[in-house]
Amino acid sequence: MTRVPFDGIAMGCDYNPEQWPRSVWREDVALMREAGVGFVTLGVFSWALLQPAPDRWDFGWFDEVVELLHEGGIAIDMATATASPPPWLTAAHPEMLPVDADGHTVWPGSRQSWCPSSPVFRSHALALAEQMAFRYGDHPAVRLWHVSNELGCHNGRCWCDVSAAAFRRWLADRYGSVEKLNDAWGTAFWSQRYGSFEQVLPPRRTGAVPNPTQSLDFARFSSDELLSYYCAERDVIRAHSDVPVTTNLMVTLHQDQQDNHRWARELDLVANDHYLDARLPEPRAELDFAADLTRGVARREPWLLMETATSAVNWQPVNVAKRPGELLLDALTHVARGADGIAFFQWLASRAGAEKFHSALVPHAGPDSARFREVAALGAALARLAPVAGAPVDARVALLFDWECWWACEAPSLPTGELRYTDAAHRWHAAFTALGLTVDVVHPSADLDRYAVVVVPTLYLCSDADAAGIAAAAARGAQVLVTYFSGITDADDHVRLGGYPGAFRDLLGVRAEEFAPLLPGHTVRLDDGSTADLWTEVLEATDAAVLARYVDGPVAGAPALTRRGSAWYVATRLDAGATAALASRVAAAAGIAAAAVPAGVTLTRRGRHAFVLNRGAGPARVDVHGTDLLTGAPFRGVVPAGSAAVVEEEG
Ligand code: GLA
Repeated sequence: MTRVPFDGIAMGCDYNPEQWPRSVWREDVALMREAGVGFVTLGVFSWALLQPAPDRWDFGWFDEVVELLHEGGIAIDMATATASPPPWLTAAHPEMLPVDADGHTVWPGSRQSWCPSSPVFRSHALALAEQMAFRYGDHPAVRLWHVSNELGCHNGRCWCDVSAAAFRRWLADRYGSVEKLNDAWGTAFWSQRYGSFEQVLPPRRTGAVPNPTQSLDFARFSSDELLSYYCAERDVIRAHSDVPVTTNLMVTLHQDQQDNHRWARELDLVANDHYLDARLPEPRAELDFAADLTRGVARREPWLLMETATSAVNWQPVNVAKRPGELLLDALTHVARGADGIAFFQWLASRAGAEKFHSALVPHAGPDSARFREVAALGAALARLAPVAGAPVDARVALLFDWECWWACEAPSLPTGELRYTDAAHRWHAAFTALGLTVDVVHPSADLDRYAVVVVPTLYLCSDADAAGIAAAAARGAQVLVTYFSGITDADDHVRLGGYPGAFRDLLGVRAEEFAPLLPGHTVRLDDGSTADLWTEVLEATDAAVLARYVDGPVAGAPALTRRGSAWYVATRLDAGATAALASRVAAAAGIAAAAVPAGVTLTRRGRHAFVLNRGAGPARVDVHGTDLLTGAPFRGVVPAGSAAVVEEEG
């Protein structure tokens, strides 16, 4: 992968000058310099103004902005401007609008109203991408290309007839014959057997539960379809420009999005958008997780945070503002976990439009504001971190995460509708992180040789090859911790017979004959004093030591926690204390006990740099020695509450 092409650890932002009169553009650039903005993402939603009519281009105003930025020394992440088609295009070609599973058209009037399979959309968008690449492909300010924007956000799946035909072509490629499709989809069930590919539809609204493998394949297809669109734009750009190409992924923002592991192979560098979600119980634990997952998607190479917010967003039920100090700590969390640049949506808070209450670098109050001063302080702080750029993050714990599994294990008609794929992943990630350990969140097929601990949370759908890789890690001596509802189905989402957890029965030395999920609000007690909820199963330890059993609930007396050599099985959702205790026990078995850090403090190492972030209530004393890059002075071993140190360690 290419290195992030901006200087040091740059601060950036989306810049949407078309929302403002020309008279402020020059001031914008001057103020950007004052804030420490090193690059801007330009043109994301500019299509309607760059091409006001089918046969009319207007690049004059855009050229002016590009030159102002260039003169100001601000680099450009150049969008292809294709994210949102202009009204003249959708009016002329309503057949390019997406259609939902009920057959309703998704109308223009917002953004991204286009079907990923639409040839009309594609030809117009590629024509624009070509204009952009031709005009700006070798402009010295342009350091990165930004294809479309958050591909899959709003229009990730489309059920229209054009998409149906594309789905059939994708299926014919995947299966070769309709017989193979019938086998993979298990169509003997409910009289679904197909006589030809022409009879197949995308999973539109059905009366009863749709075929799960059909739904899974539709998710795979939808991801591939948008990826092929990305590649088409990328290839148009490459014909005119040697500048690296990427797009902004959303690795944790939406479930019905792309398979980011697959996408990353086509990107010159991985860029991600992340927004804190106040609806989650622990939004900042999710921030840690998202950054570690982005690094996993980037196959441990440095990546770019393409969008986040300086304070509140506008799209949650309650849009929580960041408190003083949080902006710095949140940004440093990404840098500590591999980001080589931090960018925000957007430069000026909009006056009009759907996002007028979204925070920005310059708020409605203007630059004479606490928020702008905090932004400028962040710009200055990031500038001091240049020595960190390019450094790797070293993790000894891997946590396996797979979008295909996510799609499959939140389908209807599973043993419980209460289970969320990311739930176990978040809990176990947080537990190991709280021990002061760094966790790589990687695909199950990743090379696991470097890890002392491999966590396998709810890997419901698991291919034979991935199961073999996990077993090989345990055979090599890694501690492998598998949780409930793992190894249940194969890559076609067919149940592995002979007892659960099929793919891991031998590795774990356990066998379950039946699941016994718990009703919401029900908890069970274990004989080690802990409690659990959500899930239990009729488990037998065939070749494993039993570490804890249920004392009540539907399977009282059955094993809840087992161990066979270095393979651990946790057959239920443990309470927080028991989760923490088990993580600590597994880490100790792996011999990777971390340096103790006080509660609320994270210590992450990136190359020679220790990032100490103190979100706790009091000062934190940590045993780290060297120079604090943020102050330029020797680190005195204490980080005040709400503050951070980035210590270049000695030796
Ligand atoms: C996404 C989009 C931006 C903006 C932000 C708001 O990340 O890419 O254009 O809408 O959300 O949070």
